Amino acid sequence: MSRTPFIAGNWKMNLDHLQAIALVQKVAWALKDARHDASEVEVAVFPPFTDLRSVQTLISADKIPLGLGAQDVSPHESGAYTGDVSARFLAKLDAQYVIVGHSERRAGHGETDEVVSAKSVAAQAAGIVPVICVGETAEDLEEHGAAAIPAAQLRAAIADLPDGAEFVVAYEPVWAIGTGNAATPEQAQEVCRALRDVLREACGDDTADATRVLYGGSVSSQNVAAYMRQADVDGALVGGASIKADEFSRIVQFKK
Ligand code: G3P
Repeated sequence: MSRTPFIAGNWKMNLDHLQAIALVQKVAWALKDARHDASEVEVAVFPPFTDLRSVQTLISADKIPLGLGAQDVSPHESGAYTGDVSARFLAKLDAQYVIVGHSERRAGHGETDEVVSAKSVAAQAAGIVPVICVGETAEDLEEHGAAAIPAAQLRAAIADLPDGAEFVVAYEPVWAIGTGNAATPEQAQEVCRALRDVLREACGDDTADATRVLYGGSVSSQNVAAYMRQADVDGALVGGASIKADEFSRIVQFKK
């Protein structure tokens, strides 16, 4: 089963809508110069909510081969949830993906496995593919090893998804995020393989073989190719490097 490599850029809370337009234009030029083929390597950007409309308009008008994702979503469809953003509204802005369960929201906003599961279900119900983030802290690693916590998080996140639902998994060891201390390709492979085994047990071979499992945590143009050579690593969820047009474009062209 071949899975299309996927490079996703999580901008986090960076770039206003004008800076977003400038970045997407630079990335678009670089991809065009490199004759990037989106069917070879899928690329998506995940801007802050405030930039989504501007980025979507630019991508659509200039037929830029970039997918669009959001960084969060409400578990609710609509109603008295001040500050929440409904998956239905994101779908109206042509968002194809949404990140759920990012460690910065699990830690910073107290998001539990139950909330992550509800967000995955809400995204899928609106036709948006959840990018389910899982990852262990340095303490988890010490106490439970690398795969135990991410595996438990993944089981919980997909528990209420309907059979056949599409999702992407992103393994992001918390100790590697923003630190420059990236996991080794072998460490990434070990956990990504364990996560694929969770999918095999919970969803069957078809889902396990079709689902893309990404690595995230200090990915750069220097290390991305080594991750992509791993059998069970299908792409990267890139943070800091994704808001640097040249660096992100180099990461996307990892095959070259
Ligand atoms: O979601 C991706 C992010 O958490 C990784 O961040 O800056 O280590 O690439 P960074």
